[in-house]
Amino acid sequence: MIYIYKDKKFNIMRYPRTSNTSLRSWNASDEYLLNFIEDLPLGDKQILIYNDRFGFLANLLYDYHPFNVCSYKSQEKAIIKNLENNRLSLDHLQLLDLFAYPGKKTDLALIKVPKSMGLFRFYLQHLSKSIKKTGMVLCGFMTRHFTGQMLQIAAEYFDEVEQNLAWKKARLLILKKPKNYLQRDLLENCEVNSDLVLKQYPGVFSSGTMDAASRFLMDTVSVQVKDKVILDLGCGNGVLAKLLHDDNSKAEMHLIDDFSLAVASAKLNISGKKVFFHYDDNLKSFDNNFFNLVISNPPFHFEHENNIEVTLDLFKHVARVLKDTGRFIIVANRHLNYSTHLEKYFNQIDILAENDKYVIYESKNIFEEEEILEDDTRFNV
Ligand SMILES: C[S@@+](CC[C@H](N)C(=O)[O-])C[C@H]1O[C@@H](n2cnc3c(N)ncnc32)[C@H](O)[C@@H]1O
Repeated sequence: MIYIYKDKKFNIMRYPRTSNTSLRSWNASDEYLLNFIEDLPLGDKQILIYNDRFGFLANLLYDYHPFNVCSYKSQEKAIIKNLENNRLSLDHLQLLDLFAYPGKKTDLALIKVPKSMGLFRFYLQHLSKSIKKTGMVLCGFMTRHFTGQMLQIAAEYFDEVEQNLAWKKARLLILKKPKNYLQRDLLENCEVNSDLVLKQYPGVFSSGTMDAASRFLMDTVSVQVKDKVILDLGCGNGVLAKLLHDDNSKAEMHLIDDFSLAVASAKLNISGKKVFFHYDDNLKSFDNNFFNLVISNPPFHFEHENNIEVTLDLFKHVARVLKDTGRFIIVANRHLNYSTHLEKYFNQIDILAENDKYVIYESKNIFEEEEILEDDTRFNV
């Protein structure tokens, strides 16, 4: 998608790509942020950008060498791909994660307000460590996503909180006069049962209590001795891996998530010599035929969007990394009707359990071990 800013043409694509033309690489709140700062003297100002999902702001404001605070591996990849597409050198790219801070004090921060208000607070907490006393923060969002909590959270960190008029159905909050930085523990709990309460960072799936679908999955699945190498795909706080690991601590356990705070949360909840964490949005780093068991409560909500394409792409990757005798077990909302999609990548799909809301699918690549043996015997005759 092409955008013209200050007479320059920028091509901003989505990563991962989508065939859904209604999903865009930016929205009116990004444009509102740009319009607001257009006449500000930004020359040598230190700019910090949060939640710029596809790098729209990173590309258009490239000349100011902003710091981009990234929370997703796919976001980092999108920013890099778009800079390259627009022939902007990566030499000036400054990516930060939420546990690192810019070397200089911040004059201006631009925040695309996330869906999770806990995550919004986490952004402000991070920012409050580097913002100058004279600094300003602009928070952009679509009016339909406004909640009163945004104002409350902003007021925890800033003495001046102002709302701008709506423009093209987008709004801005303008925050000034930051309060003094205070160390705060923003970790949340996730109660699995009366004996097990996991810790997690804000914005990580499912704060408070274990998700009902994940619970149904764990009530259905049991690890087998042959499950020597296991993957928890989209691990969140690591609850699935944790419960499987408690049942079979001898297995080699891999956990992967696209969200950095999910991986950081999982690290708080599970550890061991044979436990490995991966911060990535695909399975390209794993060899073919690697896992005996892949387990997942797969994602399909991404902030305010639903996008099944990401999920289907993950299924395709699983088919490659799963051993011939391996099992891919997922829980899904009934209405998603995943069996038709799974059939494209796996030979055998079974429903292990279902209730009025969820279905548990077990997918396999080819034959069970015994079947392979039987086949072998037949060939030997
Ligand atoms: C429905 S949650 C499940 C979390 C956890 N397994 C549980 O059961 O509570 C899906 C997870 O997938 C992650 N995710 C989204 N896209 C991903 C991708 N491309 N690769 C890996 N993880 C992804 C999300 O960040 C989220 O943590």
